[in-house]
Amino acid sequence: MTIISNDIGRAVEILNNEDVVAIPTETVYGLAGNIYSDKAIRKIFEVKQRPLFNPLIVHLHSIEQLDEIASEFPIKAQLLADAFWPGSLTLILKKKSNIPDVITAGKDTVAVRIPNHPITLKLLKELSFPLAAPSANPFNRISPTNSLHVESYFKNSIKMVLEGGECKNGLESTIIGFENNEPVLYRLGAIAIEEIENVIGKIKVKNKKEKAPDAPGMLAKHYAPKTKTYLVNDIKKFIKSNGDKTIGVVSFTENMNASNIKHVEILSKSGDLKEAASKLYSALHTLDDLNLDMIVAQRFPDVGLGKSINDRLERATK
Ligand code: TXA
Ligand code: MG
Repeated sequence: MTIISNDIGRAVEILNNEDVVAIPTETVYGLAGNIYSDKAIRKIFEVKQRPLFNPLIVHLHSIEQLDEIASEFPIKAQLLADAFWPGSLTLILKKKSNIPDVITAGKDTVAVRIPNHPITLKLLKELSFPLAAPSANPFNRISPTNSLHVESYFKNSIKMVLEGGECKNGLESTIIGFENNEPVLYRLGAIAIEEIENVIGKIKVKNKKEKAPDAPGMLAKHYAPKTKTYLVNDIKKFIKSNGDKTIGVVSFTENMNASNIKHVEILSKSGDLKEAASKLYSALHTLDDLNLDMIVAQRFPDVGLGKSINDRLERATK
């Protein structure tokens, strides 16, 4: 049985024992293990059924810990860290040689972030090692934004989910790396591009949808519900032309009625993209559990977190 508990001491014990624990963060729940334990890290890949070519993010409690992990800290990375850590920003930096290859998939860079969740920060402070933690979902499934999502994915294959409530941001971190000293955004996420650009100026975006991403692993199909999902420009037309299907709707602000619509998840009545982003995955989890023929979402405004939401919905439709 998987225990769901806020007992940090118990989580410390399990992690010290080279086992894994699901942890809350402000983005999504992660499946965490000691970065230096081959046993724990292999278990993460095994439980998630994640291919070994996809590297993990290292989670720290403070910027001082970065010395142990990264060999370079470019000035623009420092500016971003100052602005957003603890928070939903992951930086790809040159790694130190003590970082095991299994964490970085053999690359010479390592992904790091300081999450902004009080329970996980406390946990990290009580450990003598950083935690590697990918999102706590099986490969290609929707990321979990509460402890029950994690439990229903992994049932008995993990000992504990550290309870931390609903994830405030609800989308994975924004990932930024450096190529020839220039910053590159590899994954749209919980921090909008505009916010990043306010700090370091214009940034190149390589948020690709590759089949086998060479590094900044962004697989085309990702975050996918089991139910066939569509992202459309004209939702009313889509609903009319699928009269014989049972449909679940992801709507930004408004309710919708039609005989074939079985359920509507409204993400933000007031039209707030941050609130919508925080509810997206939870809405997809809910709709996916209803055994409908299809899930449909109307494309979100292409600004701020609307870009990140559209990105995830596009990946959900593949
Ligand atoms: O919000 C988040 O980032 C969550 C929470 C748990 O912190 N974690 C998360 O991890 O989303 P994961 O494993 O699902 O996504 C990590 C992404 C992958 O796309 C991976 O390919 C990329 O980070 N990544 C990790 N190390 C990298 C590296 N050295 N170079 C390029 N991309 C890297
Ligand atoms: Mg993931």
